[in-house]
Amino acid sequence: MFGVQKSQRREKERSLTPQTPFGMTSLKKSIVGARQFGGCRKPLRAGIILGMKKMQPPQFRPQTRAIHAGEPTRHGVNVPVTSPIVRSSTFSLSSANELKAWAEGRSKVFMYTRDGNPTLAIAEKKLAALEGGEDAVVTAAGMAATSTTLFSFIQKGDEIISTAQVYGGSYRLMRDFFPRFGVTTRQVESSLEGIELLVTPRTKILFVETPTNPTLYLVDLRKAAAFAKKHGLISIVDNTFATPMLQNPIEYGFDLVIHSVTKGLAGHSDILGGVVVGSSRYISVIRKTLSAFGGIMDPEVAFLLMRGIKTLGVRIERQCETAMRLAKFLEKHPKISRVHYPGLKSHPDHALAKRQMRGFGSMLAFDLKGGLRAAHRFADRVRLFVLAASLGGAESLIILPIYGSHQHMSKEELARAGVEPGTVRVSVGLEDPEDLIEDLRQALR
Ligand SMILES: Cc1ncc(COP(=O)(O)O)c(C=O)c1O
Repeated sequence: MFGVQKSQRREKERSLTPQTPFGMTSLKKSIVGARQFGGCRKPLRAGIILGMKKMQPPQFRPQTRAIHAGEPTRHGVNVPVTSPIVRSSTFSLSSANELKAWAEGRSKVFMYTRDGNPTLAIAEKKLAALEGGEDAVVTAAGMAATSTTLFSFIQKGDEIISTAQVYGGSYRLMRDFFPRFGVTTRQVESSLEGIELLVTPRTKILFVETPTNPTLYLVDLRKAAAFAKKHGLISIVDNTFATPMLQNPIEYGFDLVIHSVTKGLAGHSDILGGVVVGSSRYISVIRKTLSAFGGIMDPEVAFLLMRGIKTLGVRIERQCETAMRLAKFLEKHPKISRVHYPGLKSHPDHALAKRQMRGFGSMLAFDLKGGLRAAHRFADRVRLFVLAASLGGAESLIILPIYGSHQHMSKEELARAGVEPGTVRVSVGLEDPEDLIEDLRQALR
């Protein structure tokens, strides 16, 4: 639009609006709406969010937030009910002064999608609202969220304390990559026993995961956050297995919450993504690292993520119910030595799960008495469950962790993670529970 006067430009924008719901005018309003609604800090602007001005977003319950938080207004005429995918790598600026202000960090306008994009911003506001954090940043994968977050706060000579039981990818990142940069990781059991002995003047970060992949160990969030505060550490938790529907670690004092949104949050096994939620101060540091490393989320993926999140509450509720039924069935099965599900009374952290989670989750694991041979046989016999990596989707999946998340681990490391050769991990989907039980029954015969 070179050479177009401002008034002419406004006229052109206006003429786009009726036929083009994603025209400049409605998009600009959308962005304003998104910032106000998702940010939850400023009052909603009358006239833009008609009819919603008396509502207080922070008071909405989780499933309502999953649908509405972060989204632009859906009130008025020709306003799209779903958020637009802004498929543009770059954004126009109105003047050299605006460009200067952006370069000096005084302006927050969208400039280049690696640094921010309107569609990503809506997803970020939604996720921040779901976790109860000030801000969030979305990434290309869960591992991009974990690696970018850790790289944001460590430098040569620093130390991390991590629970020994974490997702294999996070474990290998700390075991195999960080030593190259002079960063040491000290491991603690998920019970946190003896953790005080691991702190040194170089300790910077506490990293935990709860419940853990794949054997559902739990970490006491309150205890872990208090420990980190006492020693001035940045506390980071991978909340992927619980999703924000079942626990919000920031409430317990955690600084940063990570998700692989590939899993339950997106919920349809069709995207890869990650997110970090926390204070604006920490998120702006992580955003800078992300811009340097480049592991950003694609706007199309953000759209699918938001679509998935809108049904998160109902999906999780159903998955928790089915998982409990499957866990009870498996617990009585003569070929199974142990079922790992925090909802079972036999689970060592059942009391803690009741205390800090709002449900026991969609993930479980079990150990076959016949070991690896039995696990192979079971994996080859399932008809409805799909033998596949990942979790949190509509289709129920099984995987043998020694070949999946916990490949390339020593016997000692596997034992510490509670993974046996005959361990099977189950991601409970949305099928009818009776059909899933029937499939387990026939595969175990
Ligand atoms: C608990 C947990 N955290 C992080 C990740 C990594 O996520 P992504 O595969 O999206 O990189 C996974 C993947 O399985 C996971 O299960």
